[in-house]
Amino acid sequence: METKIVRIIDTTEYGNKLEEAAAIILRGGLVVFPTETVYGLGGNALLDGAAKSIYAAKGRPSDNPLIIHVAHPEDADKYAHTSELYYALAKAFMPGPLTVIMPKRECIPKSVTGGLDSVAVRCPSHPIAHALIDACGVPIAAPSANISGRPSPTSAKYVEEDMTGRVDMIIDGGECEIGLESTIVKIEGNSLTLLRPGAITYDALCCVCENVQIAPAVLNQLAENEKPLSPGMKYRHYAPNASFVLIDGDENAALEFFKNEQKNGSAVLCYDEELSSLDPSLSISIGARDDLGAQAKRLFSALREADKLGAHTIYAHLPNLDGLGLALYNRMIRAAAHTIKKI
Ligand code: TXA
Ligand code: MG
Repeated sequence: METKIVRIIDTTEYGNKLEEAAAIILRGGLVVFPTETVYGLGGNALLDGAAKSIYAAKGRPSDNPLIIHVAHPEDADKYAHTSELYYALAKAFMPGPLTVIMPKRECIPKSVTGGLDSVAVRCPSHPIAHALIDACGVPIAAPSANISGRPSPTSAKYVEEDMTGRVDMIIDGGECEIGLESTIVKIEGNSLTLLRPGAITYDALCCVCENVQIAPAVLNQLAENEKPLSPGMKYRHYAPNASFVLIDGDENAALEFFKNEQKNGSAVLCYDEELSSLDPSLSISIGARDDLGAQAKRLFSALREADKLGAHTIYAHLPNLDGLGLALYNRMIRAAAHTIKKI
């Protein structure tokens, strides 16, 4: 398949570029588009066949459900059984990086939800994503636009690496602002379960809902045969080709460890402050030590770039769990397949 690449530099100037993209989606084709979190691999969420094409393009198991993207929070009513709690979340966080799981309505095909009776709904804030969904007039089903198991793409060049020849169009809207996928919560009555942490933090959710539980799989490895609350939790994720190991311990000791390992050819994802002490040809900074926003934005691109250094092992600090740290921790332990070395 030939993939058309469309660059939109000025996000207020779409011209007829999005009309063509919307026509592709409406006839069942696939368009990759930018969101504020990561790039999405979009198809018409009301067409059974579009979901199947998405699974095929990503190489994703079809029991792992897709998020449907809407232009306005109230559009969720057409596709899901919403509640007061949904509207409280929408008022606080939408449009933005929050996905809410609710019982689905009939019009959403089971192929989109991986056979489940629930559907995940998100209303992105990125102007191109918003305009594209609006132009389609249907919800857009979109997983992250990476080949299944690879780090989610945060700029079009990584989308092109994974998706050229697999989709009809890629819209290049520059770098994604947040860099980690949306926070996912499931509504059950008056309580919320946090299934995937993101830029909407646990503390922020607690300001809207009194009862927020963190699903065990957010922090820990699933036991063998354990059924996850979200099918995506059971798959290896975000993984570079090299083995990725997280270092838990005093930061000075970690820096000494990194220096030694670089002598053996290992690569390191470090903080800005550490760059001058490390081998520049084997180091990639993910941001200043205390700048979790920068670290979130750079993590996935750093994992992809670290792989290109050709090292057999990549090391990084184990992040702490505060604020956005929980989202970083969640992605990093998955990328590392839970390999943590205490020093
Ligand atoms: O930021 C994001 O959320 C990005 C952008 C493109 O919007 N999308 C994204 O989609 O990260 P994806 O498919 O890579 O991750 C969605 C996760 C999967 O782990 C899936 O298992 C889970 O959401 N999920 C979707 N629907 C669900 C449902 N009905 N019940 C439980 N988990 C669900
Ligand atoms: Mg994904």
